[in-house]
Amino acid sequence: MPDNSKLRLGVNIDHVATIRNARGGTVPDPVRAALLAEAAGANGITAHLREDRRHILDHDIDALMAALTVPLNFEMAATNEMAQIALRHKPHAVCIVPEKREERTTEGGLNVAGDENHLAHFIAPLHDAGCRVSIFIGADAAQIEAAARIGADIVELHTGAYCDSHAEGRFDARDSELASLREMATYAHSLGLEVHAGHGLTFDTVAPIAALPEVVELNIGHFLIGEAVFIGLGPAIAEMRRLMDAAR
Ligand code: PXP
Repeated sequence: MPDNSKLRLGVNIDHVATIRNARGGTVPDPVRAALLAEAAGANGITAHLREDRRHILDHDIDALMAALTVPLNFEMAATNEMAQIALRHKPHAVCIVPEKREERTTEGGLNVAGDENHLAHFIAPLHDAGCRVSIFIGADAAQIEAAARIGADIVELHTGAYCDSHAEGRFDARDSELASLREMATYAHSLGLEVHAGHGLTFDTVAPIAALPEVVELNIGHFLIGEAVFIGLGPAIAEMRRLMDAAR
């Protein structure tokens, strides 16, 4: 079992950029949010540079790399354009996600099993550059096995279906999603993979995920940025941290 007494919190700042881009100017500044998140106890910052640049922009990645003292988890699709950007910056970690232009957010996990050869070649230069490679997948044994075979360091388990079923009051579905996440976190760890989790987590849904013993990092964004409107970003992060620690 890893030393998981302290679960890491990665704060995703994409949606600070969403608000900025709504007016096309410079405020609110995602880098300012990232530094505030650091000060509030975030152990890392996550930013997703999408092909369509709908939130984070290229210059945000430049500025985050220059300003952060905690690790950057750079989320990206497995495209040549993104590989070049990652290799230029050499962030601490690269998280590979599926991307569809028409989706509102990252709807599902990556189909590693269906694209193993390409992904194995895709991640090799990232490893050579010193980046840790994380793969965002559903709680699915075949995907976990494929992630291990291609040499990923980390799998991030997609918690979206668990969170959605909770929000919609479908508690049987929620409990069965949670059971799959629990089982697959154990399985991934048994194959030597570091296990992260995230997507859609809120104050109401974080505890059972934070309690999974193999999970060592949660990446949380949209809810925290929304909650910041009401209570401020620092207090929202502090409360999330408190709930994570209490569940551990
Ligand atoms: N992890 C990954 C891989 C993601 O793609 C996202 C969303 O960008 C998150 C975590 C955070 O999800 P949310 O913004 O819903 O908290």
